[in-house]
Amino acid sequence: MKEKTIPTFLGAVAMVAVMASVQAEQKHDPSMHMQHMQEMQHTNTDAAVVDSRTIVHFPNDLRIHTLANMRDHLLALSEIQDALAREQFEKAGEIAEKRLGMTSMELHGAHEVGQYMPKEMAAIGTEMHRSASRFAVAASDAAVADDVKPALAALSDVTRQCVACHSGFRVQ
Ligand code: HEC
Repeated sequence: MKEKTIPTFLGAVAMVAVMASVQAEQKHDPSMHMQHMQEMQHTNTDAAVVDSRTIVHFPNDLRIHTLANMRDHLLALSEIQDALAREQFEKAGEIAEKRLGMTSMELHGAHEVGQYMPKEMAAIGTEMHRSASRFAVAASDAAVADDVKPALAALSDVTRQCVACHSGFRVQ
């Protein structure tokens, strides 16, 4: 049963890829081509077929609470980028510190969640809070130094922690 479904699934993936390539050919649209290339990359990685992330079990309430926090993390990133674009550096730093940084740990019940996490996952979480607090400092420096680049680099340290945790873990 297993041996049969996997090749069939791969066949379906290949079909979709071929169809996407035909469509891309027909349209001659460079942006379509880019999208197509990205799709190919996705279907070529094992991750698209086999989900190798570690499953972490949270009590249901905590899982719902954590996912709501996650959505706020993403919103916070968007607000930070918006503030940076407007050169509102202090505001960008405040959002980061309050919603993602060390200050946010209490707010998010990090201690309670932390006890259900594998060590490595908790370490990435802690690093996310630390890097967000470092970004907050870099953002307020940006106002003084009139140079946003160090703050942008510090912000990418934050998003790297999001990526690291998401590629390693999922909750159930
Ligand atoms: C310590 C681990 C960890 C870190 C750090 C982390 N996340 Fe997550 N996040 C998760 C897990 C686990 C899920 C659930 C994934 C799953 O079960 O498929 C998740 C899910 C999400 C979701 C989907 C929420 C939903 O409603 O399904 C968003 C959006 C998200 N994270 C954004 C972020 C952003 C933005 C950051 C960084 C600022 C971040 N996360 C940092 C672990 C983390």
